[in-house]
Amino acid sequence: MQKKEKNILITGAKSIIGQEVMRYLSRDYSHQIIEGGRQESSAEKHEYRYLDLNDVNTFSSALKNIDTVFLVFPRAIKSVKNTFITFLDVCKKEHVKEIIFCSIKKSNFSFFVPHNKVESLIKKSGLKYTIVAPSYFMQNLTTFFLDDIKSNQCVAIPGYSSKINWIDARNVGYVITKILHDMTNYENSTMELTGDENKDFMEVCAKLTAVLSRDIEIQPNTKLFIKSLKEKGLTSSEINKLLIFHFAESFSKSKTNINNNYEKIANKKPTRLHEFIMRHISDLSCSKSPQLTLI
Ligand SMILES: NC(=O)c1ccc[n+]([C@@H]2O[C@H](COP(=O)([O-])OP(=O)(O)OC[C@H]3O[C@@H](n4cnc5c(N)ncnc54)[C@H](OP(=O)(O)O)[C@@H]3O)[C@@H](O)[C@H]2O)c1
Repeated sequence: MQKKEKNILITGAKSIIGQEVMRYLSRDYSHQIIEGGRQESSAEKHEYRYLDLNDVNTFSSALKNIDTVFLVFPRAIKSVKNTFITFLDVCKKEHVKEIIFCSIKKSNFSFFVPHNKVESLIKKSGLKYTIVAPSYFMQNLTTFFLDDIKSNQCVAIPGYSSKINWIDARNVGYVITKILHDMTNYENSTMELTGDENKDFMEVCAKLTAVLSRDIEIQPNTKLFIKSLKEKGLTSSEINKLLIFHFAESFSKSKTNINNNYEKIANKKPTRLHEFIMRHISDLSCSKSPQLTLI
């Protein structure tokens, strides 16, 4: 059997971005893929190791003989600084050679988000790294907002007129896989990735309405937004942070600069929002009679 080039540990394999990275990596037989998480994903037949980022005792066994780590930042990390200091220390002890971290694109209010802390710990760690910083995933429509769109025909979101840059996580997954394959040109750098469109939620709902032939409305009520976040399992502290960040962003007049980093690497244009909605038309279509109000 041909010797595998690298042992790559994929954290968050079931996350939006993790699934896209796994999709591309599964087609490339030159590396040994190891999934690290709290639960094995049933779709893929790769080696699985238990890894709970909230439990430092799971780090060493998950990182044994790993060359490259693809790291995501799960929302519910209890102590960001301690967790990632320890995780990076164990990476070094276990002779991990490189780390690729999926962060988020910088904005004026990035200091609110914990990703910054993780980025600076990675930079100080002495490990080879690449930080990939994408904008907002289109897949939030088919995950986070899916029930709202399908069952309630409305999206609860205050500050709906602020422009967001939308990117297809599949495009991001493609770039991350390229870097996992060969980091040489991206070593110790940060790459921001954007899609081609800055659109507010009103425009997105108009597109959904046109494609799905059902009215998808905006519900700008803050109480309803908080209720929907609670239903999605966010804790009070996560909700408070999200609200501060969300309002700060929506009052900010700065707009996201679009870059062509994806096009330079993939040699094609990023997915358009319309194309994404068409690709997911059956996921977004209503499965039961809609209720007209969330309240
Ligand atoms: N969503 C966006 O629009 C967006 C935009 C830009 C960048 N990003 C970045 O992309 C990355 C992934 O985001 P996402 O939205 O794709 O994530 P997600 O769908 O919320 O998934 C989070 C992942 O983390 C895992 N996880 C949760 N708690 C864990 C723990 N204690 N230990 C180990 N694994 C744990 C979850 O798996 P289990 O629960 O099964 O363990 C899941 O696979 C993050 O770094 C995020 O900052 C996201």
